[in-house]
Amino acid sequence: MALIELLNVEKIYRLGETEVHALRGVDLTVEEGEFVAIWGPSGSGKSSLLNLIGVIDEPTAGEVKVTGEDTRGMSSNRKADLRNRNIGFIFQNFNLVPVLSALENVMLPLQIRGMPVQNARREAQRRLDEVQLSDFGLHRPDKMSGGQRQRVAIARALVTDPAIVIADEPTANLDSKTSHHIIELMHDLNIREGTTFVFSTHDPRLLDQVKRLVQLEDGRICEEEVRT
Ligand SMILES: Nc1ncnc2c1ncn2[C@@H]1O[C@H](COP(=O)(O)OP(=O)(O)OP(=O)(O)O)[C@@H](O)[C@H]1O
Ligand SMILES: [Mg+2]
Repeated sequence: MALIELLNVEKIYRLGETEVHALRGVDLTVEEGEFVAIWGPSGSGKSSLLNLIGVIDEPTAGEVKVTGEDTRGMSSNRKADLRNRNIGFIFQNFNLVPVLSALENVMLPLQIRGMPVQNARREAQRRLDEVQLSDFGLHRPDKMSGGQRQRVAIARALVTDPAIVIADEPTANLDSKTSHHIIELMHDLNIREGTTFVFSTHDPRLLDQVKRLVQLEDGRICEEEVRT
């Protein structure tokens, strides 16, 4: 079964009188276990596309199916549940909760699932260790560097062992050593756990690893490359 299915998807943002046509008829199917990069110039629609796949936003037209479920007309509660059960999202601007510590941010998706606090804390700490932030659990996001915040966001996205990880420029704010480590982590999860990854990136080291490269231009898929 396809994990993600987009059919003739359009996204138009309305800002007063003006309309921005961000996606113009995108068809995309992603199967379980794929490692897919979305690539394209700034403004080509990468974030818009990832937000639709992550069930964070709704298309203006067309169909978005995630794990076989049609997201059209779904209540916000059901969408939140679909996300919590299946999707880890790493946002371009991190979207961490500013009043929570790093550890509490990572614990949050587990607590939403109803996991007892002790277990959630242990799992969250393990994920912070994995992104090499073992000693930063008590820090608030505003006391951390961009790269550290990005890693907290990565730990939060992975903590529920989601089937799908969606990442908007996951290595954009990282130095090359940390970036290398995060790419290894993503790759390893893909190989070892079969976690499906869909992410936007300009990072040549990350692009080197992908098996499938989808190129966007002006809201359309203009080219696709599959590597064996
Ligand atoms: N919330 C919004 N309201 C209005 N217009 C938007 C909104 N989000 C994106 N856009 C517009 O939609 C188009 C696609 O934007 P999007 O953020 O998807 O591009 P992108 O490929 O992610 O760019 P970048 O590489 O800079 O992150 C752009 O013209 C952008 O200005
Ligand atoms: Mg973007």
